[in-house]
Amino acid sequence: MSDDAALDPSDWKAFRATLHAAVDQVVDDMAAIRGRPAWRPVPEEVKAALQDAIPPDGEPLDATYARFRELIEPYPTGNTHPRFFGWVHGGGSAAGVLAELLAAGMNANVGGREHAAVYVERAVVRWFADLFGYPATASGILTSGTSMGNLLAVVAARDAALGQNARDAGIAGADLIAYAAAGVHDSVAKALAVAGLGRAALREAAAGERHGIDVTALRDRIRADRAAGMQPFLIVATAGSVDVGAFDPIDALADLCAEERLWLHVDGAFGALAILSPAHAHLVRGIERADSIAFDAHKWLQAPYAAGCVLFRDEAAHRAPFASAPAYLKRTERGTGAGAPWYADYGIELSREFRALKVWFILRHYGPKRLGAAVARTCELAATLGARIEEAAGLELLAPVLLNVVCFRAVRDGLDEEALDRLNAAVAIAVQESGAAVPSTTRIDGRLALRVCIVNHRTRPDDLDVLLRAVNDAALTGC
Ligand SMILES: Cc1ncc(COP(=O)(O)O)c(C=O)c1O
Repeated sequence: MSDDAALDPSDWKAFRATLHAAVDQVVDDMAAIRGRPAWRPVPEEVKAALQDAIPPDGEPLDATYARFRELIEPYPTGNTHPRFFGWVHGGGSAAGVLAELLAAGMNANVGGREHAAVYVERAVVRWFADLFGYPATASGILTSGTSMGNLLAVVAARDAALGQNARDAGIAGADLIAYAAAGVHDSVAKALAVAGLGRAALREAAAGERHGIDVTALRDRIRADRAAGMQPFLIVATAGSVDVGAFDPIDALADLCAEERLWLHVDGAFGALAILSPAHAHLVRGIERADSIAFDAHKWLQAPYAAGCVLFRDEAAHRAPFASAPAYLKRTERGTGAGAPWYADYGIELSREFRALKVWFILRHYGPKRLGAAVARTCELAATLGARIEEAAGLELLAPVLLNVVCFRAVRDGLDEEALDRLNAAVAIAVQESGAAVPSTTRIDGRLALRVCIVNHRTRPDDLDVLLRAVNDAALTGC
């Protein structure tokens, strides 16, 4: 029998040289990120070249790497760049890059079993649980992101409301109702749909102060819905809404959930980690009373994509919907099959990557104080940008700056609302295509807004100058 079936390099020395070159390139790219465009379009010929057939007999590793250098590496999303302000994208970090390489080398499957990676994930989950003031009995799991965290929480809340039978017999006829602010992320409606409850199970709670849920109005609404025969089961509090960075009053919602016996879930994709900044921690007051909290490490914690986490106060309620043990996954007392409970019992996936390693590296290396300082700085930069926009002729702030998000638009005399929408949509694209910066857009009170969400720890005050110049130039030329 030949050894050719093994895929290891025939020449380890050559492989080492290629890997070293790749490491040098990654470090060079990180160090020189400021000199690159914040984004550039992928040329049509590059898209076409990336659809090439796979070479049936393979090709030398250096050739594949050269192709990566030519066709892939020059056209990133752009979020490692300090002037990438679109959506809510983290900038990544050097420690995270190192950890990703090491995790790939270990190739751990963290669905379960007895190996160190499981204990790294437990340590990370424990650290997060302590950060949010959860009890020692709390549980959690790292996820691909907050969308997945929201889904696991909705499923656990559903089964807590309907009982264990829901998981085995299904939920036919259940009329469960959930409530969230108008600005809640769409992943919550998706989660309700996937959980079999339907997107229509999500009811919009009226807004009170600073875009947060009006708790008194919600209390009346829940009672009325209950009187009408519906079954309220869940309130989703948003910590950092995607459009404007608004916070729902978590403490008051926890009181309401206790009164009405509802599950309180916090979607804190980015905002929950405001807790790391002493100046902003008050925004999540009461979060330790939530039944579950979902948030991302790939945003404000600067972990490379993808890494989120969902925590549950009650470990049993977390495990109940997901635990199962078919014969071939039997947990053993000793040996490789030990290590129970397995992470597969706390979520949907069986095979799971070692995403805990990058989070562990980041937490240990930068430490909570430095990470909190980076969070605080992005908020300070957003406040500065908001103040500059308020003073600038030709720009209009469309929402108060509550956290790290600034929504504004360019205005020109004589343009009606529709024309202003068109102008600002064109400004966003012109600024992106110029490579100067990447804002995204949203709608605030029906108006198209340029949306700048500062998440990247590399962003500096002079980056705001470049952004504002690019916006003004684009607005003046009418794009
Ligand atoms: C408030 C909120 N919830 C949920 C999500 C979805 O998170 P992810 O993209 O990690 O799935 C986001 C993403 O930006 C968000 O801002």
